[in-house]
Amino acid sequence: MKNIAVFASGSGSNFQAIINEIERGELSAHIALLVCDKSEAKAIERAKSHEIDTFVFNPNAYVSKEEFEQEIVDELQTRNIEFIVLAGYMRLIGTTLLRSFEGKIVNIHPSLLPSFPGKDAIGQALLAGVKVTGVTIHYVDEGMDTGQIIAQEAVSVDEDETRETLTTKIQQVEHRLYYKTLKDLLSK
Ligand code: GRF
Repeated sequence: MKNIAVFASGSGSNFQAIINEIERGELSAHIALLVCDKSEAKAIERAKSHEIDTFVFNPNAYVSKEEFEQEIVDELQTRNIEFIVLAGYMRLIGTTLLRSFEGKIVNIHPSLLPSFPGKDAIGQALLAGVKVTGVTIHYVDEGMDTGQIIAQEAVSVDEDETRETLTTKIQQVEHRLYYKTLKDLLSK
């Protein structure tokens, strides 16, 4: 069974879905660490209630991204972590982490990339008036949501769709697609 780390900045509903699938025996992995750059993130509470270690840091307390990423790398290596799962981590991954975990970092994004990269992908899709959007899981490179695509699933945008209804539909797909994709990747 592989040791993995989840990186999150916010609610952590994808983090929770992964925890649930591990606890249900559907995904074989050990979440050895939650890395979080926001001290008030709900993801931290979720980690605590499942006795998952946390590394919470304040990016502003460091002189550079390299400095805090080196500290993260040290934390990950101490715990023999082999794989990094980004789940709403609102920060570009820099070369320090990328070099140490080459081909071992994945992200989930709420659109069919390469459409609507970056922030508020759901809002971008609604504004563009597309009839289909979706979810993408991809490897992480130095760009913004540009890495090689691993899995995608489409979600229809209905006539009366609101931000709330579309967010709910996308989250349902995310929570299922992420653990299924991880199941494949972690068995390799
Ligand atoms: C998800 O929509 C994910 O695709 C994006 O950030 C959001 C995180 O949501 N990268 P949550 O914190 O997992 O609820």
